[in-house]
Amino acid sequence: MTEEAQKVPYTTNNAGIPVESDEHSLTVGPDGPVLLQDHYLIEKMAQFNRERVPERVVHAKGSGAYGTFHVTNDVSQFTKADLFQPGRRTEMLARFSTVAGEQGSPDTWRDPRGFALKFYTQQGNYDMVGNNTPVFFVRDPMKFQDFIRSQKRRPDNGVRDHDMQWDFWTLSPESAHQVTWLMGDRGIPKTYRHMNGYSSHTYMWVNAGGERFWVKYHFKTDQGIDFYTQDEADAMAGIDGDVHRRDLFESIERRDFPSWTLKVQIMPFEDAPDYRFNPFDLTKVWPQGDYPLIEVGRMTLDKNPEDFFVHIEQASFEPSNMVPGIGPSPDKMLLGRLFSYPDTHRYRIGPNYQQLPPNRPRVPVHSYAKDGPMRYEPSRTGAVYAPNSYGGPEADTARFGDPAGWATAGEMVREAYRTRSADDDWSQPGTLVREVMDDAARERLVSNISGHLLDGVSRPVLDRAVQYWRNVDTDLGDRVAKKVDGG
Ligand code: HEM
Repeated sequence: MTEEAQKVPYTTNNAGIPVESDEHSLTVGPDGPVLLQDHYLIEKMAQFNRERVPERVVHAKGSGAYGTFHVTNDVSQFTKADLFQPGRRTEMLARFSTVAGEQGSPDTWRDPRGFALKFYTQQGNYDMVGNNTPVFFVRDPMKFQDFIRSQKRRPDNGVRDHDMQWDFWTLSPESAHQVTWLMGDRGIPKTYRHMNGYSSHTYMWVNAGGERFWVKYHFKTDQGIDFYTQDEADAMAGIDGDVHRRDLFESIERRDFPSWTLKVQIMPFEDAPDYRFNPFDLTKVWPQGDYPLIEVGRMTLDKNPEDFFVHIEQASFEPSNMVPGIGPSPDKMLLGRLFSYPDTHRYRIGPNYQQLPPNRPRVPVHSYAKDGPMRYEPSRTGAVYAPNSYGGPEADTARFGDPAGWATAGEMVREAYRTRSADDDWSQPGTLVREVMDDAARERLVSNISGHLLDGVSRPVLDRAVQYWRNVDTDLGDRVAKKVDGG
C-alpha cells in the first residue's frame, strides 16, 4: 500500500463501528442467500429510503451560498437593528430560487425568482425573504394558495396549464403589475447573480429613540441586470437545466464573488394614512420621486455550501425572524406569511429545524422551548418554565422592546383595503410599460405575452387576457390582440 492510500480513513457505519466491506453483502457462501444480520447493509438501504425531505411546496428549485453583509452608510437615525449600524459586518446565507417548478425543473423557466436572506446578527437571526420583483400577484393571503395552484400542475394530467394561469390572473386584476414584470425581461434572469432582490413588502424600522419609519428594501445587483430572451431560455432548458445553480457555485469557486448593494426607501411614519394609495399594498411600488433610495451597505457571497442538502435544502427562511429595530407593517400578505413559514418548516424539516447548521443562530438561545424529534441542543435555561425562582432567563422589554406596532381600531370585516385616490390596478403597470421599458423591451413583452397565450389558452380566458393588457396600456393590448387573433 502506498503512503497516500494509507491516509484514507476506514469506512464505519453510522455508529462509528468499522465495516467489513464496501462491496459485498454478508451471504451464505458466495452465491447467497443474503443474511438479515448484515446490519450495515440494512442501515445503508434504510437510510437511503429516507434520504429526501419533502421539497418546498413553492420555491423548490434553488441554490445558495454564504457571505457577509457590510454596512457602508449611517442609517442609525432610522433603525437601531444591530446589523444596520455603521461599519457592522454580519455573516449571512442567501438562497435564490424559482417559484412554481419542482426540484428538477429547469432554471430558465419564466417565473419570479426568490431572494431569501438570513443574517446571523448579534440579536439573533434576521430573515429577509423577498423576490427579484418589487411587487406580488395578490394582496390578501387568502388568495395565495389559489394563485399557486393555478401556476402548478393540473390535477388530472399532471401538466402545467397556461389556461389556468391566465384564468386566475385575468380574474384577479391586482396581478397586472407583477404579471407585467414576469412577462418582461425580469421574468428570466441570465443568472442569479444578474438580478435584483426586493423586500417587496413594507416593514417598520424603529430607531434607538423609539421613532418609527416605514421601509422597503432594494438589493441592487453589482453585476448589472441581464436576462435571457424566451428563445434563449427555451434552448438553455434543454442544454443545461441547472445553469443558474451551476453559475452561482462556479463563480464563487473561481473567487468571482457576486455582490449586491442594499438601498432602502424610507417613508415617515405619519405619511402612511394620507398617502395617495395604500403604501402597504404589495401590488404597488413607492415612486422614487416621493421616497428616494438611500444606501445602506453591501452583501457579498463568498462561500459555497460544503454540503448542498445540509446547508441549502435544510435552510429555513421565515419573515417572522425580525430583530429589535425591525417589525412588520399592516401589509396583510406579510402578516399571513408570518404564520406560514415556521409552520411549513415544522412540517418539512421538523420542529427543531432552528438547531440545524444553516438555521442555528450565532448567539446563545435561551428559549423555553424543549424536546421534540431530533433535538440535540440541551435546554440552556435554569428551569423549564417561567416565571421561576431558579435563575431561568427573564424577558427584558426595557432593554430590547420596540413599540409593539401601530395604532388600530375598527369593526372586524372581510373586505379589501379601503380605496384611496390613486388605488387602481392598472396605472403602475402602465407606467412600467410606457416609461421604464424601451421599444425593444416592449416588443419582447408583446412577444412573450402572445407566445404564452397561444400556448393553450382558450376562450373566454383569451378575450379577458386581451382586455387585461388593454387596461394596462391600450397600444400594448392592441398589439397582443393582433398576435393572438390577427385582429
Ligand atoms: C417560500 C408561503 C408570499 C418569497 C415559501 C414557502 C411557503 C410560502 C409555504 C415554502 C417555504 C419552505 O418550505 O422552506 C407563502 C405565503 C405567501 C407567500 C403563504 C403569501 C401569503 C411570498 C412573497 C414573497 C415570497 C410575497 C416575496 C416577496 C418566498 C421565497 C421563498 C418562499 C423567496 C423561498 C425561501 C427559500 O429559499 O427557502 N413561501 N409565500 N413569498 N417564499 Fe413565500
